Amino acid sequence: MAESIRTFFAVDVPPEVRESAARVRAELEPASELRWVAEENLHLTLKFLGDVDPLEVPKLLGRAVGRVARQQPFEVGVGGIGASPSLRASKVLWLGINQGSAELAKLARKLEAAGRGVGAARDRQPFRAHLTLARSRQPLAFELNSLPSVDSQSFCVDEVVLYESRLSSSGSTYLPLARLPLGANPDTPIELAPEP
Ligand code: 2AM
Repeated sequence: MAESIRTFFAVDVPPEVRESAARVRAELEPASELRWVAEENLHLTLKFLGDVDPLEVPKLLGRAVGRVARQQPFEVGVGGIGASPSLRASKVLWLGINQGSAELAKLARKLEAAGRGVGAARDRQPFRAHLTLARSRQPLAFELNSLPSVDSQSFCVDEVVLYESRLSSSGSTYLPLARLPLGANPDTPIELAPEP
């Protein structure tokens, strides 16, 4: 087996949503020990596959492309801030999804099914669409109701991206490996990202 790569399927978010995330960060950064997701890395995770043999990627894409193509593009709304698993013992600070969560969950189920073909583990937690802003090993040191309000923003989801995640001491780098369009002819060739 070639050296495995860490992969996940996600939906990219548009610049307006990245700007909202940056405003939240600007308000909170001085007061917290949160590890913020770099603005260019913000995304909606649909399915984390973990380590995959790169030789299995074509098979993975082959299993995913038709499933994704058979779902029509849809609107997603991002708004509201939350933290999980609980306010006081939080690990993740996120922006919520107030439109399109059922469609995102449907996509996630399809990608989970695609991932089973290359041995990716089934998720133990039910899928909950969210946009991770920051992570913390400690409880959050602020009240969520004291946070800036985030205007709701919507955008059209018309593709799913397979990313490779490279971890290093300076943080994660996400490299797009392929883009799978929604609502497409399932026989359309898969768009592979150019080699970095
Ligand atoms: P999240 O931000 O929605 O929680 C890329 O690493 C993405 O995959 C992360 O943004 C994270 O999604 C998700 N992820 C990372 N490690 C994971 C793991 N061990 N199990 C499940 N999802 C994971």
